Amino acid sequence: MKIIKIEDLSFAYQLNNPIFTNASIELPINEISLIKGANGSGKTTLCRILSGLEKNYSGLISFNDLDFKSVSFADKAQVVTYLKQEPLSNVVAATPDEDLTLWQHGFDKNNEKSHSELRYKVMKKFKIEHLKDKPFWEMSGGQIKRIGLAALLINYDKYWILDEPISGLDNTLIGIFTSILEERKTLGKGCLIISHKEDYFNNLIDKSYSIENKKFENYGKRFF
Ligand SMILES: Nc1ncnc2c1ncn2[C@@H]1O[C@H](COP(=O)(O)OP(=O)(O)OP(=O)(O)O)[C@@H](O)[C@H]1O
Ligand SMILES: [Mg+2]
Repeated sequence: MKIIKIEDLSFAYQLNNPIFTNASIELPINEISLIKGANGSGKTTLCRILSGLEKNYSGLISFNDLDFKSVSFADKAQVVTYLKQEPLSNVVAATPDEDLTLWQHGFDKNNEKSHSELRYKVMKKFKIEHLKDKPFWEMSGGQIKRIGLAALLINYDKYWILDEPISGLDNTLIGIFTSILEERKTLGKGCLIISHKEDYFNNLIDKSYSIENKKFENYGKRFF
């Protein structure tokens, strides 16, 4: 079983103000794990650590026994992809089509047709295909959020780290997104969901945790 293990994680942005102290958790990559916690408890910080943006931690984070610290950022990005909490921070180009093109960079560059077909398909999934060439500064917050979700589909096979993935989405889009998570799960592809709205994910979650006192507390399996 493929697994991300966090053992005795300690991390602080500033000396004497730790966010995590000796915190441990296991995230099997074929499961859906949910982590909740109060504002400021460290959820986004955990996402930043797992995606390789924060390296200055102590303890061991490993993927299939391979120490994360020995893996380059580029190699890590082949295994995990990170949807950030703030929708705008997921956008790197001016328009959805340009943004998704950048995500496709690693694909076969000679096959332009399949590139644009896939982009159209993932935009259509989140109902932004009509906005494909619209600059994000002319888009609503929920529309910008959907660009990040569409980019997840370009990274379909990776382990998804999702920081508040449904905040700002209407109910139709929440339904579309949770059904994608469900479909991926049947294919053995899991994710980490950070959310205050756990009720939307009740039927999908394998294990849920809460960050309490700078550690991960097990909330067990729901409905069992
Ligand atoms: N770059 C930074 N430098 C210093 N402190 C930071 C930095 N980023 C976050 N913090 C602090 O670290 C703590 C944890 O922040 P984090 O963003 O991880 O919380 P969170 O659990 O995601 O909260 P929320 O529910 O509001 O999203 C907060 O007290 C925050 O102010
Ligand atoms: Mg956060």
